[in-house]
Amino acid sequence: MQIDIVTPFPELIRGAFEESMIRRARQNGLVTLDLWDLRDETEDKHRTVDDYPYGGGAGMVMKPEPLFRAVERIRENHPDTAPMILLMTPQGGRFDQDKAIVLSKEKHLIFLCGHYRGVDERVAEHLADAEISIGDYILTGGELAAAVVVDAVVRLLPGVLGNSDSAEGDSFTCGLLDYPHYTRPENFRGYRVPEVLVSGHHERVSAWRREQALARTRERRPDLYESYIRNMTHSRNEEE
Ligand code: ADE
Repeated sequence: MQIDIVTPFPELIRGAFEESMIRRARQNGLVTLDLWDLRDETEDKHRTVDDYPYGGGAGMVMKPEPLFRAVERIRENHPDTAPMILLMTPQGGRFDQDKAIVLSKEKHLIFLCGHYRGVDERVAEHLADAEISIGDYILTGGELAAAVVVDAVVRLLPGVLGNSDSAEGDSFTCGLLDYPHYTRPENFRGYRVPEVLVSGHHERVSAWRREQALARTRERRPDLYESYIRNMTHSRNEEE
């Protein structure tokens, strides 16, 4: 997969892609990640990427020209791909695991990171294919949001996760939160690992994990729990 990130502050996230799993995926040629400095796409002496809003009001707005130019340049570098262009903004549709799975099937993603008060609307209308938000809160810019999406997408690419931590059992993929995990020591300062996990009885372990996942989801995320139960009931009815 080819991933390009366009931002006025590339150094803000460079480090996020130079450690751990993403670094390994890059080294193994599973993903190529390029950061583009938006200021390199400006033509004035001050390398201006923002301007005052039409109609007045507080805050600056990101200019459309550098963003369009950056995307044109990226397209020239990759004439054989049809990139999906994503604008990171709190006004976007909410990112979740289903969206990560959809994006992981693309060959080329371009992330445009918004800043300041917002981005000239013509970028959303005539350049981006989709607007993405990572949650109902306002970040200082779209870089960290882009890093979150890139991380969630790259770990789904074939070959990135080892078999031992495959994405199949992920929370959200199966519709429930994950069950609790423990490792050694069995007794840590008097806090013991649940007895069932050291019993060596695989069926009891599986049943316990399932109960825990259901109970946690019901308590912490009633929205997820309800849709899980609805889907289960629906697929059971379909089978009959
Ligand atoms: N930029 C600022 N806040 C954001 C958010 N919540 N999601 C995506 N991009 C953003």
